[in-house]
This record gives sequence, C-alpha cells and structure tokens, in this order.
Amino acid sequence: MSRNSQLVDSHGRIIRDLRVSVTDRCNFRCMYCLPETEEAANFYLNRFQPAADSIKINREWQPQSRMLTFEEIARFVRIGRDLGIQKIRLTGGEPLLRKDFEKLVGMLAKIDGIHDIAMTTNGFLFKQKGKALRDAGLSRVSFSLDSLDRENFAKITGRDALSNVCESIDLAITLGFSPLKINAVIIKGVNDHEVVELVRFARSKGASMRFIEFMPLDSNRAWQKELVMKGNEILEVVKRHFELTPKIPVNASETAKRWGFPDGKGELGIIAPVSEPFCGHCNRLRLTADGQLRTCLFSLNEHDLRGVLRAGSSDEEVALYAQSVVLQKEAGHRIGQKDFAQPLRTMSCIGG
Ligand code: 5AD
Ligand code: SF4
Repeated sequence: MSRNSQLVDSHGRIIRDLRVSVTDRCNFRCMYCLPETEEAANFYLNRFQPAADSIKINREWQPQSRMLTFEEIARFVRIGRDLGIQKIRLTGGEPLLRKDFEKLVGMLAKIDGIHDIAMTTNGFLFKQKGKALRDAGLSRVSFSLDSLDRENFAKITGRDALSNVCESIDLAITLGFSPLKINAVIIKGVNDHEVVELVRFARSKGASMRFIEFMPLDSNRAWQKELVMKGNEILEVVKRHFELTPKIPVNASETAKRWGFPDGKGELGIIAPVSEPFCGHCNRLRLTADGQLRTCLFSLNEHDLRGVLRAGSSDEEVALYAQSVVLQKEAGHRIGQKDFAQPLRTMSCIGG
C-alpha cells in the first residue's frame, strides 16, 4: 500500500486502529464518566473545590436518526481497511445496548483484512449476548471492573451489579475469548485500596489487569489531578506484592506498559495518558455513534462523516474525506496545561 493511500497525519503517524462507538447510551452511571447518584456526583466536591468553570457538558441522548446504521458503519470500515485500518474496537456508551449488535459484529468479521475485532463492555448484558458474539466473529473482550467490593462497585458504577459482571467474565473465559482484559479506572479515595485485590482477581482468571489513569472526560467536570492515581504509584503498590517482569511491546502504538508474573498467570497493564502521554505513537481514529470522526479523545471539534456518507459520496470521496480529517489530528492532548479545555462530550459519547 503506498503512503498516499493510507491515513497519515501531519506528524507522520499512520492510523491503523479505528474505535467505533455504536451507541451513546449506557446502563451504568460510572462516577468517572456519567455520574448520576448525588453521592457519586458530590464525592469530589466534598473533597476539592469544584472546577472554576461549570459549563454544562452535553449529556443528552442523540435521536436514533442520527445514529449510523450498521450498513454505514460497515461501509466506512471497508473504506478504512483499504486505507490501512487493521483493528476495530467497538465501544459505546455500552455497546451491548445497541439492538442486534451481534449482527454488526458479523458484518465486520466478514470484511477481509480486518484481523481483529474487539469490544469494550461493562459486562452487564454479556451473559445474554456472549455466545452470539463469539459465533459472529468477535475476537476479544475488555470488561470494565473497578471494584471487587459489592458496595464500592455500586457506589462507583451506580448499579448493584458486581456478581453479574463477574459471571460475565467467567462466561467469556468459557467461550474462549482470549486474551481477556479487565479495565479499572483508579480514583484516589475511591478504589485505590483495591489495586492488589484486582490484580489477584485477574490472575486467578488468567486475564490481563489494566489500570487506566482517570482522565478529564467526566460529565460532571469534577476531574482534579489530585484524584488521579498515577501509573507509577499503581506500579509501586503492585511491586510490593508481586515480582514483575516487563514485557516487550508488540508494536510502538501500544498504550499500555505491560508486565508478566513469574508463574505466567495473567498480566499487568498500566495505561497512563495523564502522567505519561503516549500521543507521539497514537495510531487511533474514533467514530462516534452519530457518525462524527474524532482525531483525539480530547479533540474540541469533530468531523461530520455522517453528512458525507448521507450526501451520496462515492467510496473514493469518503476516503479522501477521511484522509483530510486525519491530517488534522492533534499532536497530543493538553491535559495539565493552562489552556486545556475538556471536550463537550464525555467518554460515554466518544467511546473509549
Ligand atoms: N478516565 C479514564 N478512563 C475512563 N473510562 C471511561 N471514562 C474514563 C475516564 N474519565 C474507561 C472505562 C472503560 C473504557 C471504555 O474507558 O472504564 O474501561
Ligand atoms: Fe492519541 Fe489523543 Fe489519546 Fe493522545 S490523547 S493518545 S493523541 S487519542
């Protein structure tokens, strides 16, 4: 494939990884994303001053007519494949809330050249859908699991669903999803005391435990840097309990630093976008459920792919549009800098 038929940005980064959000809705209300309970929303405010500005983040659900259809998503993935996209991650909101989601997986799995279709889920509906997803060709699943304590899980997610999610994880193992990833966002004073237990749990399942630094993408704009448990702090805690061996990255665009354990059971991954940004190697492009392309999680503007698709554009025109969008990809996020502005949409709308 020649360079001019790829998705290359103005910093020379080649896009290989497309993250597709299939719905902006979610059946959880995680405090780092969509806090709903007063307790969750006020947690931060009791401890720290509220953010100086209080612009209302857009939390309204989008009407169905604005959602891309499965055919539109599959068409863009096919065009993306011709431009060098190799990996697809399906996200939400909660992707399993999208009706007939397994049909989309089946459509994407049939596209030659897409080697890897992964999904990030909160796991709540996985028990009903897991088998159908496996049969449709889903390759990998990442579950979000921030606590192993029933009450703390409910406080963080707004739902009393710990046992349900644990059963989903067991089902995923039985169905042969591998390697299985478990994601936790660690917030100081909330679940930082659970890091070691989470590692033990993931190891007992032969899964990769991945800790993600809390990012300023929450609907309440309550993010404060004091609440972030930094990657190196997490690593120190884990090191006190386990012997770790660093793993060599499979490719330069990996966001997680990874470690193995001497007995070979499970894996530790730390994703530290706040304290150690990996933007220089970013190979991602995001498509929101309503058909907007985003070149960065923290982009302040979006690009209306839906409009281009629905204007009757040819595949070539769509490809040229995608290339022109990628050229505008930001050098990196500006978290921690004076002029940082939080995007108007939260993670639930952008897709993780
Ligand atoms: N900071 C870090 N990670 C987040 N996620 C959602 N919101 C945030 C945030 N503000 C994570 C979820 C999930 C993935 C899609 O993104 O835990 O694992
Ligand atoms: Fe890539 Fe944006 Fe994430 Fe940085 S913040 S790693 S540029 S998606």
